Amino acid sequence: MKKICFLLICSAFGINAYGQKTIDQKVSELLSKMTLEEKVGQLVQYSGFEYATGPQNSNSATVLEEIKSGKVGSMLNVAGVEETRSFQKLALQSRLKIPLLFGQDVIHGYRTTFPVNLGQAASWDLGLIEKSERIAATEASAYGIHWTFAPMVDIARDPRWGRVMEGSGEDTYLGTQIGLARIKGFQGKGLGNIDAIMACAKHFAAYGAAVGGRDYNSVDMSLRQLNETYLPPFKAAAEAGVATFMNSFNDINGVPATANTYILRDLLKGKWNYKGFVVSDWGSIGEMTYHGYTKDKTEAAQKAILAGSDMDMESRVYMAELPKLVKEGKVDPKFIDEAARRILTKKFEMGLFDDPYRFSDDKRQKDQTNNQENRKFGREFGSKSMVLLKNQKNILPISKSTKTVALIGPFGKETVANHGFWAVGFKDDSQRIVSQFDGIRNQLDQNSALLYAKGCNVDDQDRSMFAEAVETAKKADVVIMTLGEGHAMSGEAKSRSNIHFSGVQEDLLKEIAKTGKPIVLMINAGRPLVFDWAADNIPTIMYTWWLGTEAGNSIADVLFGKVNPGGKLPMTFPRTEGQIPVYYNHYNTGRPAKTNTERNYVSAYIDLDNDPKFPFGYGLSYTQFKYSDMILSSADLKGNQTLNIKVNISNTGNYDGEEVVQLYIRDLFGKVVRPVKELKGFQKIFLKKGETKIVSFNLTPENLKFYDDALNYDWEGGEFDIMVGTNSQDVQTKRISWIK
Ligand code: GLC
Repeated sequence: MKKICFLLICSAFGINAYGQKTIDQKVSELLSKMTLEEKVGQLVQYSGFEYATGPQNSNSATVLEEIKSGKVGSMLNVAGVEETRSFQKLALQSRLKIPLLFGQDVIHGYRTTFPVNLGQAASWDLGLIEKSERIAATEASAYGIHWTFAPMVDIARDPRWGRVMEGSGEDTYLGTQIGLARIKGFQGKGLGNIDAIMACAKHFAAYGAAVGGRDYNSVDMSLRQLNETYLPPFKAAAEAGVATFMNSFNDINGVPATANTYILRDLLKGKWNYKGFVVSDWGSIGEMTYHGYTKDKTEAAQKAILAGSDMDMESRVYMAELPKLVKEGKVDPKFIDEAARRILTKKFEMGLFDDPYRFSDDKRQKDQTNNQENRKFGREFGSKSMVLLKNQKNILPISKSTKTVALIGPFGKETVANHGFWAVGFKDDSQRIVSQFDGIRNQLDQNSALLYAKGCNVDDQDRSMFAEAVETAKKADVVIMTLGEGHAMSGEAKSRSNIHFSGVQEDLLKEIAKTGKPIVLMINAGRPLVFDWAADNIPTIMYTWWLGTEAGNSIADVLFGKVNPGGKLPMTFPRTEGQIPVYYNHYNTGRPAKTNTERNYVSAYIDLDNDPKFPFGYGLSYTQFKYSDMILSSADLKGNQTLNIKVNISNTGNYDGEEVVQLYIRDLFGKVVRPVKELKGFQKIFLKKGETKIVSFNLTPENLKFYDDALNYDWEGGEFDIMVGTNSQDVQTKRISWIK
């Protein structure tokens, strides 16, 4: 008790237990010296001049002057020891010498790139995901970066939306766990450590629910659905101490997220008591005039700062409007102080006032320029992200001594495309990337032949290369096809109305199939694609996403059986675009279809089977796993008890392998309808061939809670189905009663 009183007295005097000034005290003292313009300056972020990650704004020439006069708080897209040092030097010429924060999109790796995030999610491996961000933070911080605009924790159920590639798919539970792993990886042992960078939970909020999957489009949903499906990953991120938030471009029920007091003031800075700061998305403050929410940029600045958007990325509205609004009494200066305090606090926590150049270190940068350890990890992560969708004739794994292998398709010799959409574009990186051709060549026996034919382009009607491809296939014992979507066909502003294979890729596949050769189809993509002809006619299909720097080696490790694939889909794959949105945790409706082909007076399409092409959680292995002896600790529970679920998993095949054991529940009756399934746990286990393990899960009433129509978050007693399985469709079910 005495210790607590002592600490309270200390904090009242702005000192810690060691008599040193607290950061809060230091910020207060600094704020007391700052002019209004200098405070607003901290709320301003500009992009560097090398490249833009948004609609480029003009007058970059004045940026350098504004930095020198203390009117800029942060830069994005400025990186590398030399460039960050030169910008920091300008900032230290300002009156109070307040250092800049350098932010960048370190989304799936930095100098070493890893699978696109949806591919990483397919690994269901929180340890690998956390480690990948730890490596990304180590590399980025060595290049002078203080802050990444990641993780994107937007739940998304519509694969037409190009940014599904940056997220963790359709499920709130999985997306929350992955988001937390990413934040832990980025922030490491805590801000202030030289290899820790600030993370950023984005895009707040519900950006993934854009109507029609069209990027930047409106979002309209009940507050119940918003709280149940889209907000939990953000709430968890706030509770886990994520350093920053970024708001989203979309409006939510008619109010742009950028000035949405419900999510920013009531929830984030109110109920969730969040102490970090919120950066707008690129230009999103100024864009409220286009939304038709503010009549001009003056009103945009006013509404955004009052709602709780602390920093203005590239709309250049805050510096232009806020000093005036304060002087006219239209914005209370306390809102400027609050935003500046949140931002300055992070700068102190990052140690930038002690040494503004501490992250810009030549030796550290050199050590992280082509780190072999990081590449080795990237190779492992890539192979663990791949998803085996079909292997009907066990064509995979391919023997390394196969006499002649043909690699056919537009992606076989791609290099920088393997980086995926969010790579920060290091100059002439191509020689560092392992292409699919190189990876396969590296592992195929030297006296075996590897043939190659491009066959077609990604997205045009040119069939002139078909003949050569068919002739190449005829010479081979095995044909590996590499089709899909270009690395820049998913990502920001890359929504697609048609997610079939583009161009003439499917026609090429059909021509190659006519040769009768065994075919392994690899699909490169940042999202679920529609490939129904291939899915029905090609016996072996592997989803390879875009896997990063070591892509070719990761792919070859799986193709030749050095790694047994264990990935599981983090998003449902639709049969066709007309089936979207289709996701596993849907409500039952009053007329559920009982079979896949039922049509009459049920919730179904008359022209399409009901189930998806591949379900959430689906993925095969070179071996087989048998689930048996599912045992519950009780079938009748009461109150705050714990339900234990045990199941035996046996590896009954010929390969050691990994399996993601998934736990789902169904709350059969509720004061609001409940999903037919909800993922509540998963465990990724390794089993040697012939080995059996018992996998155990626990559930408590906390896992049964949901939001009712009055936004009460609680659980109800009743009957529940408890399900365990290898994917969201193939489960074993036991029913229990749990009385409150
Ligand atoms: C982009 C993206 C956002 C990114 C930011 C900075 O428009 O929406 O995710 O972090 O701008 O590049």
